[in-house]
Amino acid sequence: MIYSKVAGTGAYTPENRVTNHDMETIVETTDEWIKSRTGIESRPVTLTENTSDLAYQAALNALDDAKLKASDLDMIIVATVTPDQPFPGVSQMLQSRLGCRAIPAFDVNAACTGFIYALNIADKMLKSGDYQHILIIGAETLTKITDYADRNTCVLFGDGAGAFVLSKSDTNHIPAILTYAKGDEKGYLKMDGYPLKKNYITPEQTRPFLQMNGAEVFKFATAVLPSVVKSLLEETHLSLDDIDMIVAHQANKRIIDKAAKTLGVQHDKMFVNIDHTGNTSAASVPIAIDEAIKTGALKKGDTMITAAFGAGFTWGGAVIKL
Ligand SMILES: CC(C)(COP(=O)(O)OP(=O)(O)OC[C@H]1O[C@@H](n2cnc3c(N)ncnc32)[C@H](O)[C@@H]1OP(=O)(O)O)[C@@H](O)C(=O)NCCC(=O)NCCS
Repeated sequence: MIYSKVAGTGAYTPENRVTNHDMETIVETTDEWIKSRTGIESRPVTLTENTSDLAYQAALNALDDAKLKASDLDMIIVATVTPDQPFPGVSQMLQSRLGCRAIPAFDVNAACTGFIYALNIADKMLKSGDYQHILIIGAETLTKITDYADRNTCVLFGDGAGAFVLSKSDTNHIPAILTYAKGDEKGYLKMDGYPLKKNYITPEQTRPFLQMNGAEVFKFATAVLPSVVKSLLEETHLSLDDIDMIVAHQANKRIIDKAAKTLGVQHDKMFVNIDHTGNTSAASVPIAIDEAIKTGALKKGDTMITAAFGAGFTWGGAVIKL
């Protein structure tokens, strides 16, 4: 049997940091409100680097960690909802910037669950036997689609990128990956696109921003997060005692806390880094996993669950043996 394994991880966040006190000068809010309602204290916000720049740095770090060269890669998958431009994709920009051979490279849009979708696709591609090493990246510059006049959303988001090199393996390191979608018909979490033309007249272009009904998204997130963890445990016949750490999408510490309560998991088993990242959408899971590994919270041989949820709606998760 052919399986896949995580051969290396990497992350990159822009140096510029916006604290809650900085946010107090932008909208009517307080450090106390943001901290107590979300767990966020500061977030990296890019001023000069676009999504492909963040993705490039995370990719170099992951390749270095895996002790591989860009020429070893057989495929690049980038999960993002904030590409530099609609096309070419960030993955294709990276193919040339990294100096890879002419390999398949494509972007995936599944919002904050995007990295789990990329992991699922890469795992199945490696299992086909046709590929040896696949670079998967979650990279976002959410702040460029954030409305800094809307205090309901602008305090939440940060920018960054995280990457894995996934390699072919003889042993099963990723025993389950689940991905789901259910259309958000009411538009609780969305960004409008370009309007259609009427009679070939180009309409005046407005700049769309991310829009969110926070309470509805909160309800959705606190339902699907524990549910996908339970499904992963059932599928792998593991119990929570077998899991060393759960690394969930960092959208709100209260969502993570509520999921822990529903599952009956001790808080120290739930990895949290949202205090200094904010919500970085598709980048959140790989940034958090990389940080957990690099700080020693997760070690080689550990079994972890990762889970995410996001616009679409989408959600999913995976069991990973490091
Ligand atoms: C957005 C979120 C933090 C709001 O927290 P909350 O405790 O539910 O707050 P509410 O929506 O009940 O709003 C309470 C009040 O705070 C106000 N408020 C909202 N943002 C604020 C801010 N930054 N500072 C101060 N007050 C704020 C609201 O206007 C509201 O005031 P009102 O009662 O006078 O109308 C929370 O709903 C959330 O995290 N939702 C999920 C978001 C998410 O995960 N999105 C990404 C998914 S991938």
